[in-house]
Amino acid sequence: MIDRSSLTVVLAAGEGTRMRSSLPKVMHPVAGRSLLAHVLAASPQDAGARLAVVVGPDHEAVADEARRVRPDAATFVQTERLGTAHAVLAARAAIARGADDLLVAFGDTPLISAATLERLRAPLQQGAALVVLGFQANDPTGYGRLLLDGGRLAAIREHADASDEERQVTLCNAGVMAFDGHRALEILDRIGNTNSKGEYYLVDAVAIVRDMGLEAVVIETSEDEVRGINTKAQLAEAEQVMQARLRQAALDAGVTLIAPDTVYLAADTKFGNDVTIEPFVVIGPGVTIADGAVIRSFSHLVQASIGKKASVGPFARLRPGSSLGDGVKIGNFVETKAVTLGTGVKINHLSYVGDADVGANANLGAGTIICNYDGFAKHKTLIGKGAFVGSNSSLVAPVKIGEGAYIGSGSVITRDVPDDAMAVERGEQTTREGGAKRYREMKTKAKATPKEG
Ligand code: UD1
Ligand code: CA
Repeated sequence: MIDRSSLTVVLAAGEGTRMRSSLPKVMHPVAGRSLLAHVLAASPQDAGARLAVVVGPDHEAVADEARRVRPDAATFVQTERLGTAHAVLAARAAIARGADDLLVAFGDTPLISAATLERLRAPLQQGAALVVLGFQANDPTGYGRLLLDGGRLAAIREHADASDEERQVTLCNAGVMAFDGHRALEILDRIGNTNSKGEYYLVDAVAIVRDMGLEAVVIETSEDEVRGINTKAQLAEAEQVMQARLRQAALDAGVTLIAPDTVYLAADTKFGNDVTIEPFVVIGPGVTIADGAVIRSFSHLVQASIGKKASVGPFARLRPGSSLGDGVKIGNFVETKAVTLGTGVKINHLSYVGDADVGANANLGAGTIICNYDGFAKHKTLIGKGAFVGSNSSLVAPVKIGEGAYIGSGSVITRDVPDDAMAVERGEQTTREGGAKRYREMKTKAKATPKEG
């Protein structure tokens, strides 16, 4: 058996079929992560693997995303949109280094698994020159059809070029292929652009391999793993497939999801033990939820970490940089952003807390608003351990509330409050004995007297 240890992976992520969006296709998110990042996460990472990502012109954001997810990725620019084979050849320098295997994948098939990519390489060991990943499509429209000849793969026909008879074929090209790395360039260089779109089609590699007297084979997988995304509708379908997977994984890990279908998770959501998520919760990227925490209905969390036995919601919004200590309680209509909340902090009702550090066991009453922005810059608020902020108070940043300090309800605090001090900032209350009664009588009398004229 030949030792096929070295591998080059080329990921075509340039300008393919568009989605009527100014955002590059592969940057669209599924479960809070770009399509490209999903494929990169599934791509082999072992020592012998070299990764090349092909991006379109002016798609620096795509190249940045590739390097962010996989710092080992080399990026290549495909300056013109001339087809999938042309895209792969933009990484010619990487392919020419001559690894044993060449794996080609598309940036718009985010549901692919690492295991399938690995499985695709196996027939190369048996001497195949090309392995194509195929699937039975529910609706094959738009996909390349795999044409078999006596059980062997003879050609792939793109939808636009297929005859009516060929369009009946439901076995489709998933877009992922494995080539014998030592023959790959020779095969790719033979691909021409004589088809209805005048593009260089990667799929033509199959017929070329056959003409060269070499073998091309198919390996099948399920449609859900290889849904290609060319439209917003397909993006939504992929989201559903990914959400179903994530919910199942969460349930398997012991998370209580009362109504799984109503909970949206992100690909990177992390759960401790005995976490409960109530119905209708949306979790965006970068969320960690520790043991015993409860996320109540209609809450929205992004880039937040939730401590043990903390309780969030219902109707809470945790924005990026929210770090909640153990036992923290965040109640209804509370919004947090860039805050560190110590153990046992309570913010139970109707508050905005941004750019702040709140010490352990501090209590922010209903309607506490941190005024962190003066229209030009954001400022920080520090609230000491055990401080009590009375309801309907505004804390105008930058400001510091000392440990154990007490803020009277309705105060607008603009100056620091020392430890254990009490600060009240509001107009003196005036109380007129019998005033309400007199007012009522006056109004009743006025109403009873008919107006003149
Ligand atoms: C492609 C396949 C089709 C297959 C389907 C699977 C070809 C010719 N067709 O069709 O057989 O069933 O995928 O989803 O290979 N790209 C570039 N540069 C280009 C063109 C495309 O980088 O010039 C990239 C795109 O970003 C995309 C991928 O290649 O990630 C596939 O391109 P796309 O236009 O989506 O191909 P399909 O028409 O879907
Ligand atoms: Ca596609």
